[in-house]
Order: sequence, then C-alpha cells, then structure tokens
Amino acid sequence: MISNLPDKPSQPGRSAGYRGVLETYRPLLNIPAHTLTITLLEGNTPLIPMPRLGQELGECDLFVKFEGLNPTGSFKDRGMTVAIGEAAGAGARAVICASTGNTAASAAAYAARAGLRSIVLIPQGKVAAGKLAGAMAYGAQIVQVLGSFDDALNLVVEITRSHPIALVNSLNPYRLEGQKTAAFEICDVLGSAPELLCLPVGNAGNISAYWMGFQEYHQLKRTGLPQILGVQAAGAAPLVLGHPVDKPETVATAIRIGRPARGEQALLAAEQSGGEIIAVTDEEILEMQRRLAIEGVWVEPASAAGLAGLAAQVRAGRRAVRGQRVVAICTGHGLKDPEIIAQRAAAPVAIPVEMKALEAVILPKEGEK
Ligand code: F0G
Repeated sequence: MISNLPDKPSQPGRSAGYRGVLETYRPLLNIPAHTLTITLLEGNTPLIPMPRLGQELGECDLFVKFEGLNPTGSFKDRGMTVAIGEAAGAGARAVICASTGNTAASAAAYAARAGLRSIVLIPQGKVAAGKLAGAMAYGAQIVQVLGSFDDALNLVVEITRSHPIALVNSLNPYRLEGQKTAAFEICDVLGSAPELLCLPVGNAGNISAYWMGFQEYHQLKRTGLPQILGVQAAGAAPLVLGHPVDKPETVATAIRIGRPARGEQALLAAEQSGGEIIAVTDEEILEMQRRLAIEGVWVEPASAAGLAGLAAQVRAGRRAVRGQRVVAICTGHGLKDPEIIAQRAAAPVAIPVEMKALEAVILPKEGEK
C-alpha cells in the first residue's frame, strides 16, 4: 500500500467526482435547457506556479493555466462541450467549423462523442501536424481550403445559413459560455481574480470569454477584475494595427488570423479591463516557448504569445508587475506542433551499441568539467 498519497487530489479535475465544465458550472452558464452533457471531463486544468520565471519577468507571482492539458490538447474543449451539447440537444445531425487546427480537433472529438458528423475547413498547408492528426483520428471530414482561415470562416458561416449544419466556431455564443469557465476556475483556485491576465489572441473568442467570465463572477462573488493583456503575432495583428490583415503570417499558426470574428468585443474587453492588445514578433514567441519548456511546460508557439507580450512590456519599461499576481493562459500543448521543435533542434546523435561510443558522446572530454 502506498501511504503518502493525499486522500483527496488538490485538483478536483483528477478526482472521481469531477463532471466537466458544463455540470460543474451549469447554473452560471447562459444556455438553453435542451443542452445535453457531452463531456470528456474537460476543464479543471492546473494553475501551475512559476516562481523562477515570475522572478525573472519582474518579481511577480506568476502562474500558468495550462489549457493544453484538456482532453484534445487545447482550451477549445471547454467551449466545444457546450456548443456540441447544445447542437445535439437541438437535434443537429452535423457540425462544421473553420479552424487553424485546435478547434477542428476539439469539434471532431466532441461530435464523435455525441454521434454527430463533423466537417472541418482548414487553411491551406498551415495546420500543425498534431492538430490535423487529431481531427483525422476523431473522424472529421477534413476540407482544405485554398485560402486563409478567414476565407474558410466565411464559407462555413455562409453554408450554415442555408443548410441544417450547426456552426461551432466561436461566433456560436455557447462556445464562449463554456470558455468563460476558465475564469471561474482561476478565481476558485486563487480565491480572487489575479491582477493581470495575459493570453494569445487569434479569432478573439477566448479573450472575450475570459472577460465575460471574470465580470460575471465578480458580480456574483466579488472576486475582483484583472487587467487583460491580449497578445497577437506581429504578422497577424489586425487588432493592433486597426485594420484587417489580408495575408497573415506567423510561426504561431494557431493565431494566423487577419479578420478576427470577435475583434470588436476583444478590444472592448482589453479596454474595459484597463489592459490592451499588443503584438510580439515570432522570435519573441519562440524564445518564450523555449523559456517555458525549461520550466517543464511545453506549449505550442501561439500559447507562449501571452507571456512573450508581458516580457516585452516589462523589458520596455511599459509595465511593472512586481508583487502582482499574474496568470498566463497557455492555450495548447506543445505536442500539437512537434515540427516547430524538430526544425530548430539538432537531430539526435546515433551510436553503435558500444559503451565506448556512449561514453564518447555523453561524458566530459579530457580537460572539460
Ligand atoms: N491559442 C491557440 C493554441 C489557439 O488554437 C487559438 C485559436 C488561440 C490561442 C486564439 O484563441 O481565436 O479565441 O482568440 N485557435 C482557433 C482554431 C482559431 O481554429 O483552433 P481565439
């Protein structure tokens, strides 16, 4: 018998009684009564303390909410459990979305669980391998559009106007209802909202959902409100530039979006919270991805953008975070995009099955420590 295990895991998400975001927070979600519970026990992701990185970033009390630990590897599962549950309850037979990859994998998984057909439209050639494989594994019909994410989104919006296929992009309000539960969880774990929340911004649903969640929880429980720092990639930063970007480009393919569907709402969220939306370069994103990995948290590039933005602001003397509680949302797992690492890391050395060869490659050379 193992005696040093705690009686109760500190994260209810890992315990037998946990029932997913919909059942945990149903009274607080603005959803129709017909919404079914289609769950993979998403949510309740860990809020990981990052003392070393927090110190380095400006002596703040830093936590990473690791949303990559959701069932399909991204935060999308929170909104998808609700959107698919609603669609299934309303009698839908098929769902559709446009996606840079994570929404596709999540929609496919929850549709499969609900016994619905799923169709996902992806932009040409820019979807990370782990996401595409996920959508395939869960059985989606995948259609590659010879255009951008924004083009694909236009197509799915159009087709759902005239055909009985449910749209599960974050234009669907139930997606946001599910995603706002992440704000509730943060307040539940910390006891109140943090001073600052930073996160990546693509189609701008998630930042809108967080702000909605924090506001609603504050009304209910006086948990306070965070400033929100939304971060786009410099090559795909319509909300920073103030105009759409026709050919968005970034290594963070998840947020390679030029016309965010909820752009206005995102700008309002940032402004009302006293925060802002800024842009960071691909180099800054990849540097933060590396930095997080050294802490044992491997996220996909887009997921490092929030913290990269914070680091850039502190470096430029535009923000002081000393003594503040800061939560960074890391939206997707590093396994989603293995190629980005393989492209930049040296290939592993190969040796014959000989001790001398192993010694030669791993032991310090003569004169070295
Ligand atoms: N991070 C990751 C890993 C994402 O996949 C996305 C969006 C975002 C951040 C941005 O969230 O769009 O709500 O502002 N991915 C969508 C998709 C576009 O299709 O998977 P947002």
